[in-house]
Amino acid sequence: MRIFDTTLRDGEQMPGVALSPSEKLQIALALDEAGVDMIEAGFAAVSKDEQMAIRQISKEVATAKVVSLARMAKSDVDAALDADVDMIHLFIATSDIHLKYKLGITREEAIRRIEEVVSYAKSHGVDILFSAEDATRSDLDFLVEAYKTAISAGADEINVPDTVGVMTPSRMVYLIGYLKQRLPPVPMHVHCHDDFGMAVANTVTAIENGADVAQVVVNNFGERAGNAALEEVVAAVHYLLGYKTNIKLEKLYELSQLVSKLFGIPVPPNKAVVGENAFSHEAGIHVHGVLNNPFTYEPMRPEDVGNRRRIVLGKHSGRHAVVWALKNIGVEPTDDLVDYVLNAVKELAVRKVKVDESVLRQVVNDYRRGVFV
Ligand code: KIV
Ligand code: ZN
Repeated sequence: MRIFDTTLRDGEQMPGVALSPSEKLQIALALDEAGVDMIEAGFAAVSKDEQMAIRQISKEVATAKVVSLARMAKSDVDAALDADVDMIHLFIATSDIHLKYKLGITREEAIRRIEEVVSYAKSHGVDILFSAEDATRSDLDFLVEAYKTAISAGADEINVPDTVGVMTPSRMVYLIGYLKQRLPPVPMHVHCHDDFGMAVANTVTAIENGADVAQVVVNNFGERAGNAALEEVVAAVHYLLGYKTNIKLEKLYELSQLVSKLFGIPVPPNKAVVGENAFSHEAGIHVHGVLNNPFTYEPMRPEDVGNRRRIVLGKHSGRHAVVWALKNIGVEPTDDLVDYVLNAVKELAVRKVKVDESVLRQVVNDYRRGVFV
């Protein structure tokens, strides 16, 4: 399976986020380095600056295919062509609610535009990806007609967007099977939004049921509740389904950190795979288990995804955790010191102080100076 990253397009549509061309380039290079197959670098028709940023990315990215989004309009295709992309991602809505209230056109007019604009773009020799926006709320017969029209007009790949995140895994099984049975065998993408927190589950289910490409955003950033998270989809298909991607798993954590820094949005501590707590353990029983055999409470190795294990000292900590934490900062865990630290940690926990490495060092210094806990 392949990974199509849209951090620089759908991800950047996150409220309050605006990347400079050089920030976009930095992220594109990191995505390429991490092994993403396709990078949607932006929406060339948005502005001259956006077009220039996409052109620069196309020039500098070594391996991934660079893509620009375009509405179903020849002027958008021209803007994307001017940005020298490898692939144009043409979209038009197919649900009745979007056709009536957003575009104000009939189904027939949508089909006419698909036919006209897809063939126009294809005549310029670029790869074409066709998206039926709001596919998951579209009439299924009409959806099939829209995809068939796009494919006959020259679309090389198609995308099934769950634009407002209304799918469930079982609905996804049905939809992907339905489309696969009725459409010519072109690669199928899936693009899931997270309005009900289902984006990763729906994406992974679609892939398990025959979709070929997952469209994702680093850190689950994006409009509203965001898009399916790159790091979660990649880890899930790798570890849970045993599928191969071209992603270097060990790059996931640093990619997440870079995107968080440049978007100015922190990664939630409990974020799967790349969060600070993803491999943190505090409860005594868990720490004991993990220190004996990490797989007791870690379903993957933190270092394999670029993250690291943290043993957190708090009110649930036991002696094993304290011994490990002391050794981790290079201090010999004598019985007296372990008792002292354990007491101090419980006191600090009541005051809601998080005992990280620097607080632990202070506690050790207090012990050496004979401070009474
Ligand atoms: O969510 C969506 O439908 C999109 C399309 C442009 C693919 O982002
Ligand atoms: Zn989207």
